[in-house]
Amino acid sequence: MNQRHRLPIATGNASGKKPDNHRPMAWVLVQKYGVLGALQLLWTDVVWDFIHRVDTAKPVSNSVLFNADDAKEQNRYVASTFRAVHSALTHLQPTVNFTEANFVDIGSGKGKALIAACRFPFHTVTGYEVSEVLHEIANSNLNTLGLQHRASSRLLNAAHIDIQEADLVFYLFNPFTGHTLNQCLQRIAEASGTKKRYVIYVNPTEDAVYRQYFTLIGEQVFQPGDVEVNFYETRPG
Ligand SMILES: C[S@@+](CC[C@H](N)C(=O)[O-])C[C@H]1O[C@@H](n2cnc3c(N)ncnc32)[C@H](O)[C@@H]1O
Repeated sequence: MNQRHRLPIATGNASGKKPDNHRPMAWVLVQKYGVLGALQLLWTDVVWDFIHRVDTAKPVSNSVLFNADDAKEQNRYVASTFRAVHSALTHLQPTVNFTEANFVDIGSGKGKALIAACRFPFHTVTGYEVSEVLHEIANSNLNTLGLQHRASSRLLNAAHIDIQEADLVFYLFNPFTGHTLNQCLQRIAEASGTKKRYVIYVNPTEDAVYRQYFTLIGEQVFQPGDVEVNFYETRPG
């Protein structure tokens, strides 16, 4: 790892679980956060949307977003919680100089993680999203919040992502699997060169695939909701 801090590796959290594309979200939330936690989340994330006149929290099912073939590899839209993004970035902050780094959310949906990342001093904040509907909602959200000069959503299948020199922090909330995942991770790994890049992987159901491309440097479980997050760094080119 570089000149800065090495992240602690806690207990293993790659549980072999599958991405959850089907269960009703309200049920998932109550199971994960408990009734009180779900109510809290309602306040910090759902009412927040209402107060700020944006649309980030409401999930969108695969059948609405993708045709049946694409939906085999692409996971539905479920937003990160503000707390989860905040915890993950706070955890990584001692390791990376954020002011010189671009934050990149791969599979950025309605832009929730972009909004959360704007609270940190990143050089730029960019999301790549394959669904036109979600991409447009994301940019509309950023405009409404006055964040359009700090952050943007780009419409792109992440299998074809071009990595910029300063793209140093990648955030993936389990957006896809299969070939798309391999192509995307390979592009990040190959872009590495002499620069170290960091990957934050939320709900790491495919940790084994990520480890083929990157070195695992930390595993954390953040509260509330036991949110499992793995941290990786690229290997020297
Ligand atoms: C679980 S959501 C995460 C949303 C956002 N990153 C967040 O944390 O709030 C996964 C997102 O990945 C998007 N996605 C799926 N396949 C993709 C692909 N091939 N390229 C880009 N985005 C994709 C989905 O449309 C969805 O918005």
